[in-house]
Amino acid sequence: MNREQTDFLVVGSGVAGLRAAIELSSVGRVTVITKDVPTESSTEYAQGGIAVALSDEDEVGIHYEDTLRAGDGLCREEAVKVLVEEGPERILELISWGAEFDKEGAKKQKLAFGLEAAHSRKRILHAGGDSTGKELERVLIDKVRTIPSIKRLPFTLAVDLIVEDGTCYGAVVVSERRPLAIFARATVLATGGLGQVYSITTNPQVATGDGYAVAYRAGAVLEDMEFVQFHPTSLYLPSAPHFLLTEALRGEGGKLLNVRMEPFMSRYHQEMELAPRDIVSRAIFTEMGHTGSEHVYLDLRHMGADFVKGRFPRVFSTCLRYGFDITAQPIPVCPAAHYMMGGVRTDVMGRTNIKGLFAAGEAACTGVHGANRLASNSLLEGLVYGKRAGQSAEENALPSAEVSEKEKAFSFPSVQPHSIPAHDEIRGDLRRLMWQNAGIIRNEDSLLEAEEKIERWRYITGKSFLSRREIELKNMIDISALIIRAARLRKNSVGAHFRSDYPGKEGNWQQHTSFVKGRKV
Ligand code: FUM
Repeated sequence: MNREQTDFLVVGSGVAGLRAAIELSSVGRVTVITKDVPTESSTEYAQGGIAVALSDEDEVGIHYEDTLRAGDGLCREEAVKVLVEEGPERILELISWGAEFDKEGAKKQKLAFGLEAAHSRKRILHAGGDSTGKELERVLIDKVRTIPSIKRLPFTLAVDLIVEDGTCYGAVVVSERRPLAIFARATVLATGGLGQVYSITTNPQVATGDGYAVAYRAGAVLEDMEFVQFHPTSLYLPSAPHFLLTEALRGEGGKLLNVRMEPFMSRYHQEMELAPRDIVSRAIFTEMGHTGSEHVYLDLRHMGADFVKGRFPRVFSTCLRYGFDITAQPIPVCPAAHYMMGGVRTDVMGRTNIKGLFAAGEAACTGVHGANRLASNSLLEGLVYGKRAGQSAEENALPSAEVSEKEKAFSFPSVQPHSIPAHDEIRGDLRRLMWQNAGIIRNEDSLLEAEEKIERWRYITGKSFLSRREIELKNMIDISALIIRAARLRKNSVGAHFRSDYPGKEGNWQQHTSFVKGRKV
């Protein structure tokens, strides 16, 4: 097996990974691996925007309070404080690197701030109307391209971390079906989320929870895995993927109707369409049940065709590609798995319980989102905590000599790579099972049934593979089992975790759920 050494290994090339890489690039060689093309990450698909307290009518203290309120009592206050206080500086830095956010005013000189659910101020910056993530990714990739100390390895997937005696020395990866060991003085996991473990998701194909799985197998603490956020509105068309229909559509006045064309949100929350995301998703799900339908409608017709096309060009053109004019027809929508609030537990400097291993972005759980992430806080989190994880990886890097010694002594386990017949069928079955049994509304019976069914596929998680699809499946099984265990343990309903058999905040609801290698800690 081939091996190589770098100073810093960054796994993932979304906003958090790239920001960490930029931070590290002045102090050593950085290798950024990504399992697809560099732009293929959840960042690229983020539409609505990036929340930041920069407008004249806003304050970081108000952003802080809104984040805590959405998090429903489970945010770590220190982590939220860091996010909202350092957010403005990170955004101004990004603008100085060339980010072009939408502007307003007669001379188009003032940043335009949008409104989204559960924000008490207009504080969402956006770019290209509804292509904010694409703009962030463009700026960060352009910046990275100018830095010679950053090497990028596309189509390279981390299979497992190299951990000995509680210290991480890099990762074994697979590139073009060949294993390679990359040794590093510090490793930053920024692998994004896991939406693909659900059959209905807004996430791209790459979001299979790989970072959580490799960290978990290596002995990292995984926390709050029961908190999966379901976005209220994804496109529901039998012939189309579940394309995200940004929260900002409701922020600008979009209305939800059931299939009988009746407005319903006033029956669920006083903030109606702008209630926190978990509440809107459950309201839609409940309404779908009452009307025996697989969707509701999002109606934009009253907003005016010119406004809709100008403000949401990507949503407009994508829906039109599927034969659907959103300015003329109410859009069929349903909730979809969107974001993991839990993840690899870190402190506010991105440190995990494993020496030499750091995490940032959706892969990490700093506690900033609590039980329910405030809309558009995730890109900001990627910037703020990507930089912090980079700083901390630099400050806590292992001595080069120690890493070289490990590299010399390292012997690869002689494993026979396997192949699983019908692995794509298993993937489909797993995803449907997770949606039906561990989705928006769960209970002991549904979770237990899912747990038992997943056990039938457990044999896969003990094997080694060289193909991306099989490695992903192994990770998806490990992570689904963990979501279910966490959801069974939490016998109460908080934020995005809703159990029909324990519908209230009961018992020790303020405790976090943490596991190390299957053991609750
Ligand atoms: O609705 C959206 O545009 C998504 C935003 C987010 O997930 O923060």
